[in-house]
Amino acid sequence: MTCPAPLTDVPLHQHNSFGIASTARWLLPLTDRSQFTEAVDLARLEARRQQRAITVLGGGSNVLLDEVIEGPILQVATRGVHFESLGNSDVLMHVEAGEPWHDVVTQSAAAGLWGIENLSLIPGTVGAAPVQNIGAYGSEISQCLTEVRAIDVRTAIEHTFAANQCAFDYRDSRFKREAGQWLITRVTLRLSRTGKARTDYPGVAAALIASGLASPDSASPAQVVNAIAEIRRRKLPDPAVIGNAGSFFKNPQVSTEIASQLSLDWPKLPTFAVERSEERKLSAAWMIEACGWKGHRQGAVGVSDQHALVLVNHGGGRARDLLALAADIIASVEQRFGVTLEREPVFINGSMP
Ligand code: EPU
Repeated sequence: MTCPAPLTDVPLHQHNSFGIASTARWLLPLTDRSQFTEAVDLARLEARRQQRAITVLGGGSNVLLDEVIEGPILQVATRGVHFESLGNSDVLMHVEAGEPWHDVVTQSAAAGLWGIENLSLIPGTVGAAPVQNIGAYGSEISQCLTEVRAIDVRTAIEHTFAANQCAFDYRDSRFKREAGQWLITRVTLRLSRTGKARTDYPGVAAALIASGLASPDSASPAQVVNAIAEIRRRKLPDPAVIGNAGSFFKNPQVSTEIASQLSLDWPKLPTFAVERSEERKLSAAWMIEACGWKGHRQGAVGVSDQHALVLVNHGGGRARDLLALAADIIASVEQRFGVTLEREPVFINGSMP
């Protein structure tokens, strides 16, 4: 299938979960994987002509868009899911990058497969999921991802990365660190026909019991998907109702010494063990709330009154308003706790060379 002609002056407010009013000067929507090479070549020409970077956009659920994006945008909207049985209890699920992540979770659960059920209701596309190594309720995509295919936009050549080549970390990967270089085209997950509900994260077992199950151990993947979705609906603001990108900050990791000192000073501050590390993770939401930000409104933007880690767009907010609010929050948390918060969503600077 040949590439469509690029679109010009495309409004993007419905293509980012913050609902920020933004305009794309040059945008190519891609619906078929056979279009990728030609599309990347076209975007490279446009990027060279303008001396600007190429932006790859998926569901727009982890971005802060500038008012105008001058450089070329490739919008990945390819669909398709293919299951491959491995002969034992394992099944590979090959998914095209434009599939909405939650649809993949429900399809996997409907097939009775275990692996991604705790990652229910996370907004965004499959192609974006490995970039920030999406994680929630005790699971991360890196735990069952086996392969990522991605095109290097500098050369238009597709590469295949095994999981151990993706440099996955908490909300991090090589695709995030090498921002602007990779267009993810396909992701492969290794799922299992056997398993049981992962209930280590506080509240998961209670939600399964509340859904009518006698024991969390008798839950099916679909029942876990529904229970996690119920927790998220209760705890997090819905981007369809009020613009947001989920957690705006990462939970900071500090040494055990710093964590112990903070726990002495602030006994209620939740701290968590970090896998494969001596460090401890601190609850950013708790620190932000303790500084009085929860529910605070600053013009068109603010902090959610449901969850202190989530910044919201009440309507008409711009990326720069959210960045200014975030800077104020970072400064106040730093002043009170001596800890520096790090932003999660990626700022797409519209005039970036
Ligand atoms: N808390 C507060 N105030 C709040 C909200 C939470 O003090 O307004 C405290 C509570 O003590 C609570 C603790 O923070 O027990 C943890 O809250 P929660 O379970 O909501 O988890 P989180 O650490 O704030 C992380 C992820 C979420 C993910 C949840 C569940 C990050 C940056 N965020 O939030 O991810 O859903 O755990 O696993 O790691 C996202 O990335 O967009 C996202 C929502």
